Amino acid sequence: MEKRKIKHIEVIKLDSEEEIAKEVAAKFIDKIEAKPSAKFILATGSSPIKTYENIIKDHKENGTDWSKTIVCNLDEYVGLKPTDKQSYRYFMNNKLFNHINININSTHLPSGIDEPKLSAKNYDMQLEMNSPFDITLLGVGVNGHIAFNEPGSEFDAKTAEVTLTKETIEANKKYFKSLGDVPKTAISVGIGTILTKSNEIILIALGASKQAAITELLKGKENLDWPITALLRHSKVTVYTDCKIK
Ligand code: GLP
Repeated sequence: MEKRKIKHIEVIKLDSEEEIAKEVAAKFIDKIEAKPSAKFILATGSSPIKTYENIIKDHKENGTDWSKTIVCNLDEYVGLKPTDKQSYRYFMNNKLFNHINININSTHLPSGIDEPKLSAKNYDMQLEMNSPFDITLLGVGVNGHIAFNEPGSEFDAKTAEVTLTKETIEANKKYFKSLGDVPKTAISVGIGTILTKSNEIILIALGASKQAAITELLKGKENLDWPITALLRHSKVTVYTDCKIK
């Protein structure tokens, strides 16, 4: 294990995705044990999948009780229904919610089918109602985006419909039949909301494609072109990565 501290951000390098997933899952499990009514913001993407697998394993083996927990997710594609296999609602149900005893009515994602402005407004209200969140889990895009806040996003932004960059569409096409099927916009929790409504933030960055984002964060300077650097404004952040940190 290697560690570095950049302002209030603890950056931890571990050798394998499995080790990272175990550590991160343990953070959630410990929080629920101390506070059954804990509230979390969770992420989709490949980065948290193993963490969710560890959470499910713990629930099955140790009976950790998620029944009082509330989860809000970070984002949803515009145009996808909850039943569409590529929707983030489908992902969360499949990868986590259906396998633990969380009340499905206590799990929230932005609507991909409502009129986007209304969907964003409603979701902001949902977040407002449930905040503060005990832990917010983030992945990071190859271009440094957090949730779907692409480079250039304001660090005080609220939930909004955002336009996905070419890079993001390219990176996410693996989940769709063709490039043309990837939605062009999404409803994303804003960076400002993440920063002000999270008591603690955990970010997972895995693989060589995330090195540039980690390197940028390690510079310790806020940079609008790299949304990940907004985390420098928060007082309690842990980054788990297998990228180089020195
Ligand atoms: C997606 C999601 C992000 C996620 C990121 C990285 O576009 N909206 O929340 O963190 O891309 O995805 P992955 O973990 O698959 O690399």
